[in-house]
Amino acid sequence: MAIEKIILDVDTGSDDAVAIICAALSSKIELHSICTVWGNRPLSQTTENTLRVVDMLGIGESVKVYPGCETSMVSTLLQNRRGGYDGQRKSVNGGEKVSMHQETIDELPPSHTKAQEKRAVMHYVETLMNGADGEFTLVPVGPLTNIAMALRVEPRIAKKVKQIVLMGGGCRRTNSTAAAEFNIWGDPEAAQIVMNCGAKITVVPLDATHNACINSDEVEELYKLGTPAATCVADMVKHRIAAYSYLQPMARLDSAPIHDALAVCSLIDPAVLKDVRLVRCDVDISGGIADGQTIVDPRAYTDLPKNVDFAFDADRDRFSALLFSILRGEN
Ligand code: BDR
Ligand code: CA
Repeated sequence: MAIEKIILDVDTGSDDAVAIICAALSSKIELHSICTVWGNRPLSQTTENTLRVVDMLGIGESVKVYPGCETSMVSTLLQNRRGGYDGQRKSVNGGEKVSMHQETIDELPPSHTKAQEKRAVMHYVETLMNGADGEFTLVPVGPLTNIAMALRVEPRIAKKVKQIVLMGGGCRRTNSTAAAEFNIWGDPEAAQIVMNCGAKITVVPLDATHNACINSDEVEELYKLGTPAATCVADMVKHRIAAYSYLQPMARLDSAPIHDALAVCSLIDPAVLKDVRLVRCDVDISGGIADGQTIVDPRAYTDLPKNVDFAFDADRDRFSALLFSILRGEN
């Protein structure tokens, strides 16, 4: 299998942390660089969290981190459209408000590697335009602001990339609102630009990630692996299970999706995704009640051209086995 050379785009975030670890440790992926973006937390914190993971992995010399956009492209211009970070704190039946997202990754010490001066948007444009056609795969697992901005600066990058594999959206599942998934809801205009840029795109949505949950028994097994990376993954998943069991219980109560890691793992073993279909997908940018919804049209006779491969399901056991094999250094 060819090695996939990727630029990861993260808003770290506990599942982003696991995605970085998978990308860095798998022999099937060459992690070229990491761009950070606002999202789970403000950019300064998503960048610091990213650098902590990079330091834990000891890859700071070879994998540069480029800070990206601090907010969405234009969505904040519509007043009352966003709840901000506090809007992402939810409570159940009036109980204590908790965050779905890891705030600071306290399990890891403060970073010593520095982020690059160059911003992510410039990094994308320069790296992709100077690279060979089809050299890079982009893997955005946060709001799509950086890549949409880069596409606006230099639209030809759409033809330069091999593919874009993004985590975001949902057909029958949502999380941030009744209609929308967080990464797309965070910057709907950016998501609509990226989905229609003409590149080959695979969408790894909630429909797939919610069917690939890791459970607390597996967390115990992860701790037993005993490496810093496996311990970090175990810590992240444990945190996620606590939040999900309260706010968004999965079919198995002591389990949680590791959304962003599934997207990365699909590059190592595409069969972790199931029921992948070429469909038409657009994003609601109305600013109304369905703001940020991914409108998925699975019909054969779509009105507009089909633009993304959309994963409607995932193979949980296969994903779990792959995660363990990466952490054991076997994949
Ligand atoms: C997505 O939202 C973020 O909070 C996660 O990191 C993931 O990328 C899931 O909806
Ligand atoms: Ca993320």
